[in-house]
Amino acid sequence: MLSFKYDARDIGYLRTLSKGEKSEMLQSTTIDVEKIRHDFPILQRRINGDHKLVYLDNAATTQKPRIVIDAISNYYMNYNSNIHRAVHQLAEEATFAYEDVRHKVAKLINARSTDEIIFTRNATESINLVAKCWARHHLTKSNRVLITEIEHHSNIVPWQIVTGEVGAFLDYLSIGDEGRIDIDDFAQKIHDPNLKLLSISQMSNVLGTILPVKEMTKLAHQEDVPVLVDAAQSVPHMKVDVQDLDCDFMAFSAHKMLGPTGVGILYAKREILEAMPPFIGGGDMIKEVHKQNTIFNDLPYKFEAGTPNIADVIGFGAAIDYLNNLGFKNIREHEMQITEYALERMNELQGITIYGPKVMNDRGAVISFNLGDIHPHDLATILNDFGIAMRSGHHCAQVLMERLDVSATSRVSFYIYNSKEEVNILIDALQSARRLFGL
Ligand code: ALA
Repeated sequence: MLSFKYDARDIGYLRTLSKGEKSEMLQSTTIDVEKIRHDFPILQRRINGDHKLVYLDNAATTQKPRIVIDAISNYYMNYNSNIHRAVHQLAEEATFAYEDVRHKVAKLINARSTDEIIFTRNATESINLVAKCWARHHLTKSNRVLITEIEHHSNIVPWQIVTGEVGAFLDYLSIGDEGRIDIDDFAQKIHDPNLKLLSISQMSNVLGTILPVKEMTKLAHQEDVPVLVDAAQSVPHMKVDVQDLDCDFMAFSAHKMLGPTGVGILYAKREILEAMPPFIGGGDMIKEVHKQNTIFNDLPYKFEAGTPNIADVIGFGAAIDYLNNLGFKNIREHEMQITEYALERMNELQGITIYGPKVMNDRGAVISFNLGDIHPHDLATILNDFGIAMRSGHHCAQVLMERLDVSATSRVSFYIYNSKEEVNILIDALQSARRLFGL
């Protein structure tokens, strides 16, 4: 690894911003939806004739502001180069821009050090990394891994694979009807010397339920059980602090927070990462390679083999700047207002079943529902005719679907650029669907 020294040269994605834009970024303090919408080229699109795009599928992926798109194309147009290897100027600029994003991510979640931030392809890969490099070496036949019934498949399947390999048991915390954890069940299950890991999502991608991760982590640590937090749905929407939560691992993705696809984050406490073997082998994750042995690189590079997704990591840095400029407190407030309004209006619809917490407490900007006996895919097709993009199906959470005793739901999920006016368009479209199906 070469060492890099940088001054405050105006390099990297910041080149795409004019002085005026930069000072405007520093000044803005509240959520102004109309202003924000101008930053997202795709939101000008018309769907199905002349319908405004009403994008309500943000839990699947968010749209990208121009600043992110520009950061990526600026990298390719002006300083495309591999990183960590060469000493030429382009390589230095690209390395600086890439490593600068690691600093931004560490600051975003309040990690102690950039050594604790590993770039992966997505949250799923981050969880698989922990399953293969940590759990595979810590679990034996008599052990258990504990997850919940609300988990996304990415926080179920890796544990099924690893517990299957070693003959350990994958256990589930039950959830109540509003999608909240049954605390008595938790208190009982956590108190077990054979329990080796608790892996829980901080916010459900289906119900929006926010789990009491800090309290659960504290109880788990009293029993010496490490905790992984799947924060794919929480980091984009609220202030998340890994030191405050005291979790041992955290996984999330850039694309659910205005960044590009193909970039995930694994946070883990340094001492845990140091003791873990590498994930995959190859260039950049090594210090020395000899015919029969290799000395692995220091953190965080030990876990980043091969040329990484440089352009998209740089794009993610621009997304973090954009969100920081809005402020996570403002983002959460805006989402609470819009979700509360949507819940209120949706509850007016006869024949609707809304899953998850009925009130905004402990809830994110995700609403899953069924309308009478209309199949969610039919409903999504009808809503598409009105320009509305929402998700229907099992949402990669079939264990939860079984618990709710449904095969599928419809789901709307909001972000910073969604307005109450769009909620009204949604309600009108749902009313039309009711009429069409004779409800
Ligand atoms: N995890 C994404 C979703 O919930 C894909 O839609």
